[in-house]
Amino acid sequence: MALYILAFVIENSNRIIFLIDTDINDLYQPLLIFHTIMTKPYAESCAQNQQAILEVLQVNLPEQRRLLEIGSGTGQHAVFFSRHFPQLLWQTSDLPVHHPGIQAWIDDEAQTRVLAPLELDVLQSAHWGASHYDTVFSANTVHIMSWPAVEAMFTGVGKVLQSAGILILYGPFNYQGHYTSDSNARFDLWLKQRDAKSGIRDFEALNHLATQQGMSLTQDYAMPANNRILIWQKE
Ligand SMILES: C[S@@+](CC[C@H](N)C(=O)[O-])C[C@H]1O[C@@H](n2cnc3c(N)ncnc32)[C@H](O)[C@@H]1O
Repeated sequence: MALYILAFVIENSNRIIFLIDTDINDLYQPLLIFHTIMTKPYAESCAQNQQAILEVLQVNLPEQRRLLEIGSGTGQHAVFFSRHFPQLLWQTSDLPVHHPGIQAWIDDEAQTRVLAPLELDVLQSAHWGASHYDTVFSANTVHIMSWPAVEAMFTGVGKVLQSAGILILYGPFNYQGHYTSDSNARFDLWLKQRDAKSGIRDFEALNHLATQQGMSLTQDYAMPANNRILIWQKE
């Protein structure tokens, strides 16, 4: 019978991994369930990219006051970034399945500038609400969404972004139909095998959607691991 080694380490008072050397048939499922309940969701990608993204945000967010994040995912980014912007209210959002995890990260943070997640499916026009923001931020979302969802996202951003507000988009993008690296080409293949409607988006197509919403490109940053940050500003 297989023996499994699971780690039991408490990190940051909340991330718990089990360390038990025993017969897995008896313990594996209950431990996994316990692990899921007791831990916050964690994305290694956020830990890896957040410092580089922060450095770009620090240049571009000093005047900003009210930010909407689309597709907050685990909630890690919201909590990490908001620590560095005491003047900023950070509104998280995502599909409901992610809300408990986002809320768990917010609850562990000793400040109140990260707001509880809104239900925002970009395809649902009613979800966009009546609030306005001077910044919209979204990381690693447009290659996950279908193209109609990306179109709906830009339409929604056009509605909620104030005049002179900025849209900040982080992720991998293609230029003139070309991948910027072999690893992005492999990633795109992986994405499409998993969901044929997903895939790395063309910068030009995104820029067209932004232009239709009265936004102009102001920055295009090269980021580590063949990612980019695109920033558009509304008229
Ligand atoms: C790869 S995750 C990125 C999460 C997080 N921003 C990050 O950088 O780790 C993609 C996110 O897009 C969200 N998403 C996918 N389709 C969406 C939709 N139609 N409306 C809003 N969010 C959506 C998912 O729920 C998920 O949180």
